[in-house]
Amino acid sequence: MHKTDDVVLSIKDLSKQFGNGCDYCKDDSAELQKNMCPHCNTVHAVKNVSFDLYEGEILGVVGESGSGKSTLMKMLYFDQEASTGTYVLPEDPNAEDNVFLVSSQRKRQIRNEQLGMVYQNPMLGLKMDFSSVTNIAEKLIASGNRNVGQMTDRADHFLNKVNIPLRRKYEAPKNFSGGMQQRVQIAKALSNYPPILLLDEVTTGLDLSVQADVLELIKEIQRDMGVSMIVVSHDLAIIRMLCDRTMVMLDGQVIEHGITDQILEDPQHEYTQQLVYSIL
Ligand SMILES: Nc1ncnc2c1ncn2[C@@H]1O[C@H](COP(=O)(O)OP(=O)(O)OP(=O)(O)O)[C@@H](O)[C@H]1O
Ligand SMILES: [Mg+2]
Ligand SMILES: [Zn+2]
Repeated sequence: MHKTDDVVLSIKDLSKQFGNGCDYCKDDSAELQKNMCPHCNTVHAVKNVSFDLYEGEILGVVGESGSGKSTLMKMLYFDQEASTGTYVLPEDPNAEDNVFLVSSQRKRQIRNEQLGMVYQNPMLGLKMDFSSVTNIAEKLIASGNRNVGQMTDRADHFLNKVNIPLRRKYEAPKNFSGGMQQRVQIAKALSNYPPILLLDEVTTGLDLSVQADVLELIKEIQRDMGVSMIVVSHDLAIIRMLCDRTMVMLDGQVIEHGITDQILEDPQHEYTQQLVYSIL
């Protein structure tokens, strides 16, 4: 079992609403239409989510479209502000009580030094008109690197690792296939060796054979580099291949969580049961 001192990321009671809310939906037991308040139309995209990420594990987040997975990831990466909640990174040498409350400069520092992100939409993660090398250098510069030779070496190393032919490293990712763009995003996210990697639907929309390559790459990275990861997918089959533990989200809430094998063998919630039966 995990020890609590192995926790690298800890989230408590995290919520995100789009809209001001009203007296009705301020009450946690209010009945919403999916994630929307029937009175004020506020969207409760993420609601009271709590979890810990342990060192070296791959934690899965699975749920249907609109269940709040990307919103959760964007809050962890400070792309979106949390409405309420606590976010602790205990392994960070400057660990604060709640990094949602620190200055934007400190947030940028945490994001550049502690986190890597692979977006569902590669347009959000890459500058499509700049070369792969430049995209990676941008992340390295943001994390304090100034040595050009070292940065190009680092770019070569990781492009090689994700199987992007080095003769194409000065080409703009807009010329690349979807699978290649995702692999450049992974190379960029890993380039400064962040202890935590966030992956949002990294294989969605890819051909099955390409999907298998990217999944194999993710497993290899976890094995070789010991990076802790949160992997988001609407596809339980992908979660089954990658993740030690899994949380199931529905309408912004975590309805089930535990060891992936146990969830697959004995799903408790009706929604999880449907998900599991759909892949058998
Ligand atoms: N900027 C925004 N403004 C208003 N509502 C938003 C915004 N971003 C997301 N939402 C809403 O929040 C909810 C959760 O969206 P989110 O993108 O997190 O879902 P998801 O689980 O990632 O879905 P998918 O599997 O389709 O990627 C949805 O109802 C969505 O419409
Ligand atoms: Mg999403
Ligand atoms: Zn309301």
